[in-house]
Amino acid sequence: MAGALAGKHIVLGVTGSIACYKALDLASKLVQAGALVDTILSYGATQFVTPLAFRSLTHREVVTDTFDLHSQFSNEHVALAQQADIVVIAPATVHCIAKLAAGLADDPLTTTVIAAKAPLLVAPAMDANMFDHPATQENLAKLRSRGVVIAGPAAGRLASGLTGMGRLLETPELLGYISATLGRKGDLEGRTVVISAGGTQEPIDPVRVITNHSSGKMGYALAEAARDRGAKVVLVAAPTSLPNPPLVQVVRVQTAQQMAEAVFKAVRQADALIMAAAVADYRPASAAEQKIKKAAGALTLELTNTTDILATAKGPFVKVGFAAESQDLVENARAKVRSKGLDLMVANDITDPQSGFGSDTNKVTLIDKNLRAEELPVLTKYEVSQRILDRVSALILASGA
Ligand code: CTP
Repeated sequence: MAGALAGKHIVLGVTGSIACYKALDLASKLVQAGALVDTILSYGATQFVTPLAFRSLTHREVVTDTFDLHSQFSNEHVALAQQADIVVIAPATVHCIAKLAAGLADDPLTTTVIAAKAPLLVAPAMDANMFDHPATQENLAKLRSRGVVIAGPAAGRLASGLTGMGRLLETPELLGYISATLGRKGDLEGRTVVISAGGTQEPIDPVRVITNHSSGKMGYALAEAARDRGAKVVLVAAPTSLPNPPLVQVVRVQTAQQMAEAVFKAVRQADALIMAAAVADYRPASAAEQKIKKAAGALTLELTNTTDILATAKGPFVKVGFAAESQDLVENARAKVRSKGLDLMVANDITDPQSGFGSDTNKVTLIDKNLRAEELPVLTKYEVSQRILDRVSALILASGA
Protein backbone atom coordinates (compact mmCIF):
# COMPACT_ATOMS: atom_id res chain seq x y z
CA MET A 1 0.00 0.00 0.00
CA ALA A 2 1.46 3.34 -0.92
CA GLY A 3 -1.30 5.83 -0.19
CA ALA A 4 -0.96 8.80 2.15
CA LEU A 5 -2.43 6.77 5.04
CA ALA A 6 -0.20 3.69 4.88
CA GLY A 7 1.69 3.11 8.12
CA LYS A 8 0.24 6.18 9.85
CA HIS A 9 -0.78 6.05 13.51
CA ILE A 10 -4.26 7.48 13.73
CA VAL A 11 -6.08 8.10 16.99
CA LEU A 12 -9.78 7.98 16.16
CA GLY A 13 -11.94 9.66 18.80
CA VAL A 14 -15.64 8.87 18.63
CA THR A 15 -18.17 10.84 20.66
CA GLY A 16 -21.87 10.26 21.32
CA SER A 17 -23.86 11.13 18.24
CA ILE A 18 -26.12 8.98 16.12
CA ALA A 19 -23.48 9.50 13.39
CA CYS A 20 -21.26 7.08 15.40
CA TYR A 21 -22.27 4.29 13.04
CA LYS A 22 -20.39 6.07 10.26
CA ALA A 23 -17.22 6.04 12.38
CA LEU A 24 -17.16 2.25 12.01
CA ASP A 25 -16.95 2.63 8.24
CA LEU A 26 -14.25 5.27 8.64
CA ALA A 27 -12.22 2.97 10.93
CA SER A 28 -12.57 0.13 8.43
CA LYS A 29 -11.49 2.25 5.45
CA LEU A 30 -8.52 3.66 7.37
CA VAL A 31 -7.37 0.13 8.18
CA GLN A 32 -7.84 -0.91 4.54
CA ALA A 33 -5.64 2.03 3.54
CA GLY A 34 -2.87 0.66 5.78
CA ALA A 35 -3.29 2.94 8.81
CA LEU A 36 -2.89 1.79 12.44
CA VAL A 37 -6.07 2.93 14.15
CA ASP A 38 -6.39 3.35 17.92
CA THR A 39 -9.97 4.13 18.85
CA ILE A 40 -11.07 6.07 21.90
CA LEU A 41 -14.81 6.03 22.59
CA SER A 42 -16.51 8.52 24.86
CA TYR A 43 -19.12 7.19 27.27
CA GLY A 44 -21.82 8.64 25.00
CA ALA A 45 -20.38 6.85 21.98
CA THR A 46 -20.55 3.49 23.79
CA GLN A 47 -24.32 3.98 24.03
CA PHE A 48 -24.52 3.99 20.20
CA VAL A 49 -21.76 1.60 19.12
CA THR A 50 -19.68 -1.01 20.92
CA PRO A 51 -15.94 -1.09 21.58
CA LEU A 52 -15.99 -4.64 20.24
CA ALA A 53 -17.08 -3.43 16.81
CA PHE A 54 -14.09 -1.08 16.60
CA ARG A 55 -11.71 -3.71 17.97
CA SER A 56 -12.94 -6.19 15.36
CA LEU A 57 -12.30 -3.71 12.55
CA THR A 58 -9.02 -2.23 13.76
CA HIS A 59 -7.51 -5.34 15.44
CA ARG A 60 -6.29 -3.06 18.22
CA GLU A 61 -7.39 -2.33 21.78
CA VAL A 62 -10.14 0.24 22.11
CA VAL A 63 -10.03 2.78 24.92
CA THR A 64 -13.30 3.73 26.64
CA ASP A 65 -13.94 5.84 29.66
CA THR A 66 -15.53 2.88 31.40
CA PHE A 67 -12.15 1.13 31.78
CA ASP A 68 -10.45 2.11 34.98
CA LEU A 69 -7.14 1.01 33.54
CA HIS A 70 -7.53 3.64 30.86
CA SER A 71 -8.58 6.50 33.04
CA GLN A 72 -7.14 9.94 32.51
CA PHE A 73 -4.50 9.11 35.11
CA SER A 74 -3.19 6.22 33.10
CA ASN A 75 -0.07 6.63 31.00
CA GLU A 76 -1.88 4.94 28.12
CA HIS A 77 -3.22 8.21 26.81
CA VAL A 78 0.09 9.94 26.88
CA ALA A 79 1.54 6.97 25.00
CA LEU A 80 -1.23 7.09 22.42
CA ALA A 81 -0.83 10.84 22.07
CA GLN A 82 2.91 10.51 21.49
CA GLN A 83 2.54 7.83 18.83
CA ALA A 84 -0.19 9.62 16.94
CA ASP A 85 0.49 11.11 13.52
CA ILE A 86 -2.98 12.67 13.70
CA VAL A 87 -5.92 12.74 16.10
CA VAL A 88 -9.28 12.57 14.33
CA ILE A 89 -12.54 13.11 16.21
CA ALA A 90 -15.45 11.86 14.09
CA PRO A 91 -18.19 12.45 14.98
CA ALA A 92 -17.49 15.34 17.35
CA THR A 93 -20.52 16.37 19.40
CA VAL A 94 -21.32 19.92 20.45
CA HIS A 95 -20.26 18.98 24.00
CA CYS A 96 -16.94 17.53 22.84
CA ILE A 97 -16.22 20.67 20.79
CA ALA A 98 -16.96 22.85 23.83
CA LYS A 99 -14.61 20.77 25.98
CA LEU A 100 -11.84 21.01 23.38
CA ALA A 101 -12.29 24.77 23.08
CA ALA A 102 -12.07 25.13 26.85
CA GLY A 103 -9.02 22.87 27.02
CA LEU A 104 -10.73 20.42 29.38
CA ALA A 105 -9.23 16.99 29.91
CA ASP A 106 -11.76 14.93 31.84
CA ASP A 107 -11.91 11.73 29.81
CA PRO A 108 -9.50 9.55 27.80
CA LEU A 109 -10.15 11.39 24.52
CA THR A 110 -9.73 14.96 25.71
CA THR A 111 -6.72 13.90 27.78
CA THR A 112 -5.14 12.43 24.67
CA VAL A 113 -5.88 15.57 22.65
CA ILE A 114 -4.21 17.78 25.25
CA ALA A 115 -1.18 15.49 25.42
CA ALA A 116 -0.75 15.19 21.64
CA LYS A 117 1.56 17.27 19.45
CA ALA A 118 0.04 15.79 16.28
CA PRO A 119 -2.51 17.72 14.21
CA LEU A 120 -6.13 17.55 15.36
CA LEU A 121 -9.00 17.09 12.93
CA VAL A 122 -12.55 17.57 14.20
CA ALA A 123 -15.59 16.44 12.20
CA PRO A 124 -18.71 17.86 13.87
CA ALA A 125 -22.09 16.12 13.79
CA MET A 126 -25.13 17.60 15.50
CA ASP A 127 -28.55 19.07 14.94
CA ALA A 128 -28.65 22.25 12.85
CA ASN A 129 -29.78 24.48 15.72
CA MET A 130 -26.92 23.23 17.90
CA PHE A 131 -24.46 23.90 15.10
CA ASP A 132 -25.83 27.40 14.51
CA HIS A 133 -25.72 28.33 18.21
CA PRO A 134 -23.27 31.18 18.85
CA ALA A 135 -21.52 29.13 21.55
CA THR A 136 -20.75 26.35 19.03
CA GLN A 137 -19.65 28.83 16.38
CA GLU A 138 -17.38 30.61 18.86
CA ASN A 139 -15.90 27.30 19.99
CA LEU A 140 -15.23 26.22 16.41
CA ALA A 141 -13.63 29.59 15.62
CA LYS A 142 -11.42 29.18 18.69
CA LEU A 143 -10.33 25.72 17.57
CA ARG A 144 -9.61 26.96 14.03
CA SER A 145 -7.49 29.78 15.39
CA ARG A 146 -5.39 27.15 17.18
CA GLY A 147 -4.78 25.34 13.89
CA VAL A 148 -7.38 22.61 14.39
CA VAL A 149 -8.83 21.41 11.07
CA ILE A 150 -12.64 21.46 11.11
CA ALA A 151 -14.04 19.02 8.53
CA GLY A 152 -17.69 19.75 7.79
CA PRO A 153 -20.41 19.39 8.80
CA ALA A 154 -22.40 18.99 5.58
CA ALA A 155 -25.92 20.22 4.92
CA GLY A 156 -28.68 17.68 4.44
CA ARG A 157 -31.20 15.53 6.25
CA LEU A 158 -30.51 15.20 9.96
CA ALA A 159 -31.53 12.39 12.32
CA SER A 160 -34.05 14.76 13.93
CA GLY A 161 -35.91 14.83 10.61
CA LEU A 162 -34.91 18.46 10.07
CA THR A 163 -32.82 19.55 7.12
CA GLY A 164 -29.80 21.77 7.77
CA MET A 165 -26.11 21.92 8.60
CA GLY A 166 -24.98 19.16 10.91
CA ARG A 167 -24.38 15.94 8.98
CA LEU A 168 -21.07 14.18 9.54
CA LEU A 169 -19.03 14.21 6.33
CA GLU A 170 -19.08 10.94 4.39
CA THR A 171 -16.11 8.56 4.71
CA PRO A 172 -14.41 9.43 1.37
CA GLU A 173 -14.46 13.11 2.30
CA LEU A 174 -13.08 12.40 5.77
CA LEU A 175 -10.32 10.26 4.23
CA GLY A 176 -9.44 13.21 1.97
CA TYR A 177 -9.28 15.60 4.93
CA ILE A 178 -7.12 13.16 6.91
CA SER A 179 -4.67 12.58 4.03
CA ALA A 180 -4.43 16.31 3.32
CA THR A 181 -3.86 17.17 6.98
CA LEU A 182 -1.18 14.50 7.35
CA GLY A 183 0.62 15.89 4.30
CA ARG A 184 0.22 19.60 4.88
CA LYS A 185 3.92 20.12 5.70
CA GLY A 186 4.99 18.13 2.63
CA ASP A 187 7.50 19.15 -0.05
CA LEU A 188 4.85 21.09 -1.99
CA GLU A 189 3.80 23.22 1.00
CA GLY A 190 3.34 26.80 -0.13
CA ARG A 191 3.25 25.79 -3.81
CA THR A 192 0.31 26.15 -6.17
CA VAL A 193 -0.27 23.41 -8.71
CA VAL A 194 -2.83 23.70 -11.51
CA ILE A 195 -4.08 20.38 -12.84
CA SER A 196 -6.53 19.73 -15.67
CA ALA A 197 -8.61 16.56 -15.88
CA GLY A 198 -11.31 14.82 -17.88
CA GLY A 199 -12.40 15.04 -21.49
CA THR A 200 -13.73 18.32 -22.86
CA GLN A 201 -17.14 18.39 -24.56
CA GLU A 202 -17.66 20.44 -27.71
CA PRO A 203 -21.35 21.14 -28.43
CA ILE A 204 -22.80 20.25 -31.83
CA ASP A 205 -26.29 21.39 -30.86
CA PRO A 206 -28.16 21.72 -27.51
CA VAL A 207 -28.21 17.93 -26.98
CA ARG A 208 -25.08 16.56 -28.64
CA VAL A 209 -21.35 16.93 -28.01
CA ILE A 210 -18.03 15.73 -29.37
CA THR A 211 -16.02 14.20 -26.57
CA ASN A 212 -13.65 11.33 -25.73
CA HIS A 213 -13.27 8.43 -23.29
CA SER A 214 -11.23 10.23 -20.60
CA SER A 215 -12.58 9.32 -17.14
CA GLY A 216 -10.71 12.11 -15.34
CA LYS A 217 -9.23 9.58 -12.86
CA MET A 218 -5.59 10.41 -13.59
CA GLY A 219 -6.05 14.16 -13.12
CA TYR A 220 -8.12 13.66 -9.97
CA ALA A 221 -5.50 11.30 -8.51
CA LEU A 222 -2.84 13.92 -9.26
CA ALA A 223 -4.91 16.59 -7.54
CA GLU A 224 -5.27 14.45 -4.41
CA ALA A 225 -1.60 13.47 -4.40
CA ALA A 226 -0.44 17.10 -4.78
CA ARG A 227 -2.83 18.15 -2.00
CA ASP A 228 -1.42 15.35 0.19
CA ARG A 229 2.07 16.86 -0.23
CA GLY A 230 0.93 20.27 0.97
CA ALA A 231 0.18 21.99 -2.36
CA LYS A 232 -2.67 24.37 -2.98
CA VAL A 233 -4.38 22.66 -5.89
CA VAL A 234 -6.59 24.17 -8.57
CA LEU A 235 -8.28 21.38 -10.51
CA VAL A 236 -9.76 22.49 -13.83
CA ALA A 237 -12.16 19.67 -14.57
CA ALA A 238 -14.01 18.85 -17.75
CA PRO A 239 -17.23 16.87 -17.13
CA THR A 240 -16.60 13.63 -15.17
CA SER A 241 -18.67 11.52 -12.79
CA LEU A 242 -16.05 11.90 -10.03
CA PRO A 243 -16.87 13.80 -6.82
CA ASN A 244 -14.87 16.93 -5.98
CA PRO A 245 -11.77 15.96 -3.97
CA PRO A 246 -11.90 17.61 -0.52
CA LEU A 247 -9.61 20.62 0.03
CA VAL A 248 -9.01 21.05 -3.69
CA GLN A 249 -10.31 24.12 -5.54
CA VAL A 250 -12.33 22.68 -8.41
CA VAL A 251 -13.20 24.79 -11.47
CA ARG A 252 -15.73 22.94 -13.63
CA VAL A 253 -15.66 23.60 -17.36
CA GLN A 254 -17.14 21.97 -20.43
CA THR A 255 -15.33 23.06 -23.59
CA ALA A 256 -11.68 23.40 -24.60
CA GLN A 257 -12.18 27.17 -24.77
CA GLN A 258 -13.55 27.30 -21.21
CA MET A 259 -10.69 25.09 -20.04
CA ALA A 260 -8.17 27.39 -21.74
CA GLU A 261 -9.61 30.45 -20.00
CA ALA A 262 -9.72 28.75 -16.58
CA VAL A 263 -6.16 27.40 -16.93
CA PHE A 264 -4.69 30.71 -18.16
CA LYS A 265 -6.27 32.48 -15.19
CA ALA A 266 -5.14 29.90 -12.61
CA VAL A 267 -1.51 29.65 -13.81
CA ARG A 268 -0.83 33.32 -13.08
CA GLN A 269 -0.15 32.28 -9.45
CA ALA A 270 1.11 28.77 -10.16
CA ASP A 271 4.40 26.93 -9.64
CA ALA A 272 3.36 24.09 -11.96
CA LEU A 273 0.78 23.24 -14.63
CA ILE A 274 -0.03 19.59 -15.24
CA MET A 275 -2.35 19.03 -18.21
CA ALA A 276 -3.86 15.59 -17.68
CA ALA A 277 -7.05 16.53 -19.52
CA ALA A 278 -7.93 15.09 -22.89
CA VAL A 279 -8.62 18.36 -24.67
CA ALA A 280 -10.47 18.30 -27.98
CA ASP A 281 -8.23 19.38 -30.85
CA TYR A 282 -11.27 20.33 -32.95
CA ARG A 283 -14.72 21.71 -32.21
CA PRO A 284 -17.74 22.29 -34.46
CA ALA A 285 -17.20 25.61 -36.27
CA SER A 286 -20.57 26.70 -34.92
CA ALA A 287 -22.97 24.91 -32.58
CA ALA A 288 -26.55 24.77 -33.91
CA GLU A 289 -28.95 26.75 -31.72
CA GLN A 290 -31.74 24.20 -32.14
CA LYS A 291 -31.51 20.41 -32.13
CA ILE A 292 -30.39 19.19 -35.57
CA LYS A 293 -33.23 17.13 -37.05
CA LYS A 294 -32.66 13.85 -38.85
CA ALA A 295 -32.85 14.17 -42.62
CA ALA A 296 -32.20 11.85 -45.53
CA GLY A 297 -28.55 11.57 -46.59
CA ALA A 298 -25.27 12.18 -44.81
CA LEU A 299 -24.54 15.08 -42.48
CA THR A 300 -21.25 16.95 -42.71
CA LEU A 301 -19.96 18.86 -39.71
CA GLU A 302 -17.35 21.53 -40.18
CA LEU A 303 -14.72 21.46 -37.43
CA THR A 304 -12.27 24.14 -36.46
CA ASN A 305 -9.13 24.05 -34.29
CA THR A 306 -9.20 24.70 -30.56
CA THR A 307 -6.44 26.48 -28.67
CA ASP A 308 -3.55 24.23 -27.67
CA ILE A 309 -3.58 25.15 -23.99
CA LEU A 310 -0.27 23.57 -23.05
CA ALA A 311 1.63 24.98 -26.02
CA THR A 312 0.18 28.47 -25.44
CA ALA A 313 0.67 28.64 -21.65
CA LYS A 314 4.03 30.30 -21.04
CA GLY A 315 5.90 29.70 -17.77
CA PRO A 316 7.88 30.62 -15.42
CA PHE A 317 5.96 27.63 -13.98
CA VAL A 318 6.90 23.99 -14.54
CA LYS A 319 4.97 22.55 -17.50
CA VAL A 320 3.90 18.91 -17.59
CA GLY A 321 1.96 17.27 -20.41
CA PHE A 322 0.35 13.90 -21.01
CA ALA A 323 0.55 12.03 -24.29
CA ALA A 324 -1.96 9.27 -24.86
CA GLU A 325 -0.65 7.39 -27.85
CA SER A 326 -1.75 4.28 -29.70
CA GLN A 327 1.54 3.86 -31.64
CA ASP A 328 5.21 4.95 -31.52
CA LEU A 329 4.76 6.01 -27.88
CA VAL A 330 8.19 7.39 -27.03
CA GLU A 331 8.89 9.06 -30.39
CA ASN A 332 5.52 10.79 -30.49
CA ALA A 333 5.84 11.90 -26.88
CA ARG A 334 9.37 13.25 -27.44
CA ALA A 335 8.12 15.32 -30.36
CA LYS A 336 5.46 16.85 -28.11
CA VAL A 337 8.05 17.73 -25.41
CA ARG A 338 9.76 19.91 -28.01
CA SER A 339 6.70 21.32 -29.78
CA LYS A 340 4.94 22.27 -26.53
CA GLY A 341 8.06 23.39 -24.60
CA LEU A 342 7.59 20.94 -21.72
CA ASP A 343 9.65 20.20 -18.64
CA LEU A 344 8.14 16.73 -18.36
CA MET A 345 5.93 14.48 -20.47
CA VAL A 346 3.91 11.55 -19.17
CA ALA A 347 3.36 9.14 -22.03
CA ASN A 348 0.99 6.23 -21.93
CA ASP A 349 0.04 3.58 -24.41
CA ILE A 350 -3.75 3.55 -24.53
CA THR A 351 -3.84 0.16 -26.22
CA ASP A 352 -2.46 -1.44 -23.01
CA PRO A 353 -5.44 -2.60 -20.86
CA GLN A 354 -3.55 -1.64 -17.67
CA SER A 355 -3.29 1.97 -18.73
CA GLY A 356 -6.40 2.47 -20.81
CA PHE A 357 -9.19 4.96 -20.21
CA GLY A 358 -11.17 4.49 -17.01
CA SER A 359 -8.63 2.10 -15.46
CA ASP A 360 -7.43 2.59 -11.85
CA THR A 361 -3.87 1.74 -12.86
CA ASN A 362 -1.53 3.27 -15.36
CA LYS A 363 1.74 2.30 -17.00
CA VAL A 364 3.60 5.38 -18.10
CA THR A 365 6.94 6.51 -19.43
CA LEU A 366 8.30 9.80 -18.11
CA ILE A 367 10.25 11.90 -20.61
CA ASP A 368 12.20 14.93 -19.44
CA LYS A 369 13.10 18.05 -21.42
CA ASN A 370 16.39 16.41 -22.50
CA LEU A 371 14.24 13.61 -23.94
CA ARG A 372 15.53 11.02 -21.46
CA ALA A 373 12.87 8.35 -20.95
CA GLU A 374 12.10 6.41 -17.75
CA GLU A 375 9.61 3.58 -18.05
CA LEU A 376 7.61 3.00 -14.85
CA PRO A 377 5.94 -0.29 -13.91
CA VAL A 378 2.17 -0.67 -13.67
CA LEU A 379 1.11 1.44 -10.67
CA THR A 380 -2.12 2.82 -9.26
CA LYS A 381 -2.95 6.27 -10.58
CA TYR A 382 -2.20 7.71 -7.10
CA GLU A 383 1.26 6.07 -7.16
CA VAL A 384 1.92 7.31 -10.70
CA SER A 385 0.94 10.76 -9.43
CA GLN A 386 3.51 10.54 -6.65
CA ARG A 387 6.25 9.67 -9.17
CA ILE A 388 5.24 12.61 -11.38
CA LEU A 389 5.15 14.94 -8.36
CA ASP A 390 8.63 13.78 -7.26
CA ARG A 391 9.83 15.16 -10.58
CA VAL A 392 7.68 18.30 -10.38
CA SER A 393 8.89 19.06 -6.87
CA ALA A 394 12.54 18.74 -7.97
CA LEU A 395 11.89 20.88 -11.07
CA ILE A 396 10.28 23.64 -8.98
CA LEU A 397 13.29 23.63 -6.63
CA ALA A 398 15.73 23.64 -9.56
CA SER A 399 13.89 26.62 -11.10
CA GLY A 400 14.77 28.58 -7.96
CA ALA A 401 11.12 29.55 -7.36
N1 CTP B 1 -3.43 19.69 -24.93
C1 CTP B 1 -3.78 20.99 -24.69
N2 CTP B 1 -4.64 21.66 -25.52
C2 CTP B 1 -5.15 21.04 -26.61
C3 CTP B 1 -4.79 19.69 -26.88
C4 CTP B 1 -3.92 19.04 -26.01
O1 CTP B 1 -3.32 21.58 -23.70
N3 CTP B 1 -5.97 21.69 -27.40
C5 CTP B 1 -2.52 19.02 -24.00
C6 CTP B 1 -3.08 17.77 -23.35
O2 CTP B 1 -3.75 18.08 -22.14
C7 CTP B 1 -1.85 16.93 -23.10
C8 CTP B 1 -0.91 17.33 -24.23
O3 CTP B 1 -1.40 18.57 -24.72
O4 CTP B 1 -1.21 17.25 -21.89
C9 CTP B 1 -0.84 16.35 -25.35
O5 CTP B 1 -2.15 16.05 -25.80
P1 CTP B 1 -2.36 15.09 -27.02
O6 CTP B 1 -3.82 14.99 -27.34
O7 CTP B 1 -1.61 13.81 -26.77
O8 CTP B 1 -1.53 15.89 -28.12
P2 CTP B 1 -1.95 16.70 -29.35
O9 CTP B 1 -1.05 17.88 -29.38
O10 CTP B 1 -3.42 16.96 -29.37
O11 CTP B 1 -1.50 15.72 -30.52
P3 CTP B 1 -2.28 14.48 -31.21
O12 CTP B 1 -3.72 14.56 -30.80
O13 CTP B 1 -2.04 14.71 -32.65
O14 CTP B 1 -1.59 13.24 -30.70
